[in-house]
Amino acid sequence: MTHTPDRPSENLATALSDGLTPSFADRLIHWQKEHGRHNLPWHSRDPYRVWLSEIMLQQTQVATVAGYYPRFLAAFPTVSALAAAAEDDVLALWQGLGYYSRARNLHKAAKQIMADFGGQFPTERAELEKLCGVGRSTAAAVAAFAFLKRETILDGNVKRVLCRVFAQDGDPQDKKFEHTLWTLAESLLPPQNTDMPAYTQGLMDLGATVCTPRQPQCGRCPVAADCTARQQGRPESYPVKTRKLRRSAQTLWLLLAQTLPEAQSACWLEKRPAKGIWAGLHALPVFDSRQALLDALPASASVAWLPPLTHALTHKDLTLYTARVHLPATARLPIAGQWRHDWPDLGLPAPMRRLLQQQQA
Ligand code: ADE
Repeated sequence: MTHTPDRPSENLATALSDGLTPSFADRLIHWQKEHGRHNLPWHSRDPYRVWLSEIMLQQTQVATVAGYYPRFLAAFPTVSALAAAAEDDVLALWQGLGYYSRARNLHKAAKQIMADFGGQFPTERAELEKLCGVGRSTAAAVAAFAFLKRETILDGNVKRVLCRVFAQDGDPQDKKFEHTLWTLAESLLPPQNTDMPAYTQGLMDLGATVCTPRQPQCGRCPVAADCTARQQGRPESYPVKTRKLRRSAQTLWLLLAQTLPEAQSACWLEKRPAKGIWAGLHALPVFDSRQALLDALPASASVAWLPPLTHALTHKDLTLYTARVHLPATARLPIAGQWRHDWPDLGLPAPMRRLLQQQQA
């Protein structure tokens, strides 16, 4: 494509790197070194470590990941160790982090690396994107941190920063606008490959600690002088809010069937299907209706209904009604699953684990 002078974002990006003032990248790199986050446990040139951290950090806070990451690495120190693991063991170490498809994809991707890439991480962003669970931004982060590639990340935080600095008022859900932001982000990359880790971390740190969704701390921002949203006096109005993601609601009925005696009680658990809610985890049997649940029980069972729980998924609020029954260990239910004494060691959905722990208390 030839020069497109009518694009304000590109003009601004060029203006910022015209040599008269430090470029966007220069400011960010300098700021990262002085004020950014350092000594995070995943700062490394090892692509396995970088990739693992980026997947964990996709939907989880740094402070939470900092607790899980060393344990996961200790259990699976290399990509070949992860590829050789049983999926249940991977899910068990992931439990509590949520979004379990990340763990299943991680495991699949480790197998892909062994089978398709000779056990070595590919070094190009486009190749990294072939791995399960690795989108363009995650692939770029691995390429930049581990292989010093000039590839830009563009996660939600970075989109916010760019929308503000360049007063971009497109709809963040819109594919065409997203493409504009990728082009803008690429135009801002530093020229030197060796600057890529500090630059990439700087983008992440700026979005996470300064250019926050609410009450951004413009006084601490290295690019505040160039920020159009700030000049307009309304940094918080970018990115523009589009129609809110409508949340849905669903009611589910859970069966908490336990054997006697309660002290070492076993619990009836099923393994969830590979797709859908709580995919791949061990779980209490889930029913769509109260009647369907009752139909699965022997007529003699005496049911106690526990107080309903609410549980928020990404796009859905769940109301969970739980029926507790005690059954002899010889009982077999006409549904998938089996008695498990080892439930504390299994990957269970967080609300179910809490329910079981409350029953033991
Ligand atoms: N979020 C995503 N990647 C990150 C990283 N490398 N450091 C801190 N937060 C992150």
